[in-house]
Amino acid sequence: MNILILGSGAREHAFAWKLSHSKLLTNLFIAPGNAGTLQFGKNINLALTDFAAIKKACIANNIEMVFVGPEDPLVNGVYDFFKNDKRLNQIAVIGPSQEAAKLEGSKSYAKAFMQRHNIPTAAYKEFDAGNYEEGILYIKNHALPVVLKADGLAAGKGVLICQNHIEAMAEFELMIQQSKFGAAGKKVVVEEFLKGIELSVFALTDGKHFVLLPEAKDYKRVGIGDTGLNTGGMGAVSPVPFAHETFMQKVVEKIIQPTINGIQKEELDYKGFVFFGLIKVEDEPMVIEYNCRMGDPESEVVLLRLKNDLVQLFISCSRGELDKEKIEIDQRCAATIVAVSGGYPGEYEKGKPIDLGYLENPESIKTIEAEGGIMVFHAGTKEEGNEIVTNGGRVLAVSALSDTIGEAIELSKNILGQIYFEGMYFRDDIGYEFAD
Ligand code: AMP
Ligand code: GLY
Repeated sequence: MNILILGSGAREHAFAWKLSHSKLLTNLFIAPGNAGTLQFGKNINLALTDFAAIKKACIANNIEMVFVGPEDPLVNGVYDFFKNDKRLNQIAVIGPSQEAAKLEGSKSYAKAFMQRHNIPTAAYKEFDAGNYEEGILYIKNHALPVVLKADGLAAGKGVLICQNHIEAMAEFELMIQQSKFGAAGKKVVVEEFLKGIELSVFALTDGKHFVLLPEAKDYKRVGIGDTGLNTGGMGAVSPVPFAHETFMQKVVEKIIQPTINGIQKEELDYKGFVFFGLIKVEDEPMVIEYNCRMGDPESEVVLLRLKNDLVQLFISCSRGELDKEKIEIDQRCAATIVAVSGGYPGEYEKGKPIDLGYLENPESIKTIEAEGGIMVFHAGTKEEGNEIVTNGGRVLAVSALSDTIGEAIELSKNILGQIYFEGMYFRDDIGYEFAD
């Protein structure tokens, strides 16, 4: 089978690596990909907003399946574009339809979906220019802190946790009256603040059945001890020790099963990953958000622990036969630590040569991967001549598998010690709550 991966991050490198293990794979293409994905397939340089270019690439390369990494093309309707095109509609697309992708693309849609299906989440109300004054009054009387969420996609910046009413009202005004987040913030969800520990849970669904993947915890803040600005993710670990069996049973019964039932009942076309951003409040799971894709950096630990043939899982997903699949999980622990460009998530420079130390030798990479279950996944990298240079904020995600989370973290850190680029920074406390 010829497969095209859409995306260019460490998540997509991890998927390229995992798919490449399958005997069912013939040729792999990644668009646009990065310097790492070249190890496993051919990169195609195109913009993910350019559906015509994606179509051309699919026809030219006899693509039979497309896996969509990031949310943007999904929210913009790439699935529907394939289904509605005579030359593309036989291609299996792993990802939801535009309507179903609203579970991530519109907070208001997601909240209403959860209400309809009795899925535990924070109490909320939504406002726009039409009921603005009512919104101000609602915020004034709301317990603190209060959470404001721009309805649409806002590059991860659309959620504000306000500690006082004045700040909350000012932000609310900025969103609705001054278009702080553009069209994405024209509607605002105001919700209750939930206190607890977060975790990420993933299911692959065919719209009727689902399989559960290993859970993970990511570290979003840039600074040591979860301080500083939010980022795309500075690292992740899996499993999550507090997600014990009885808790995960509750997650399945109260959240995952009702979500999949809701998708089926509402006849949403959904063949892809559902990412449940959860919070454990006392001992109860609640939904903070849905994403219509896999997480990044969570994929860089989850895929390391998944033993199944991923091409086979995707085929079963596209045929509506996930009930025939049984997930096999490596019982070891995985950790990933992300090396970022200096200045990230603020301004940073690109084009810095990356010195991979002894890892530059492909044989060394093969040896350490075979011995220790270590993978250096590329994010913002590209090949320039015969050098690999930085090409983004998050540059590399160094992942490792070992018997304990602490050991997996130490392995990642040892590898990071081999790597250098100007301005390189990583959090050396990933998994701190769990490292023994
Ligand atoms: P989201 O973009 O919905 O993932 O929100 C970003 C982050 O804001 C989440 O990962 C949480 O840390 C935090 N957050 C969002 N909603 C709430 C809430 N209702 N209570 C507490 N924290 C929240
Ligand atoms: N790591 C969080 C995300 O992928 O959205």
